[in-house]
Amino acid sequence: MQSFNRRRLLKTFGISAIALGLGSTLGALKRGRADDVDWFQSINRIKDPLTLTPKEKGHAPFVQIPGVAKSGEPFMVDIQIGETLHPMTVGHYIQWIEVYMGNDLISRVEFSSLCPQAKVTIPVAVKESSTLRILSRCNLHGIWETVKTVAV
Ligand SMILES: [Fe+2]
Repeated sequence: MQSFNRRRLLKTFGISAIALGLGSTLGALKRGRADDVDWFQSINRIKDPLTLTPKEKGHAPFVQIPGVAKSGEPFMVDIQIGETLHPMTVGHYIQWIEVYMGNDLISRVEFSSLCPQAKVTIPVAVKESSTLRILSRCNLHGIWETVKTVAV
């Protein structure tokens, strides 16, 4: 009789522990993340440019600008989301890209999951050396920012 109760207790405890673990995992997946990082807590940035994490490689705006710009003359800023291009699928995609000069918005491009690539080319002109801020938003992994200095 005592052995039966011990077995029953262990069985119940084991099932409860499994249920709790599964519930926690399902909760994280429901919130759109399988890891415990809250990507929407703040703006995400590359921490160490020499050793990118997989999330940084796939989400930080990858920006190409000319080495030196001429004052007041337009130049093109090529942007793709991720050094490794971010996927564009129904459940996981880039929602928008914004380009700022300092705090002034220059351009905003929105995407749906039907857009095959999160890439844009934006014309920009500056009168003096300036800082461009490029932001993008992944529906699962939050807002990511890259900052570039344009030399004139
Ligand atoms: Fe993502």
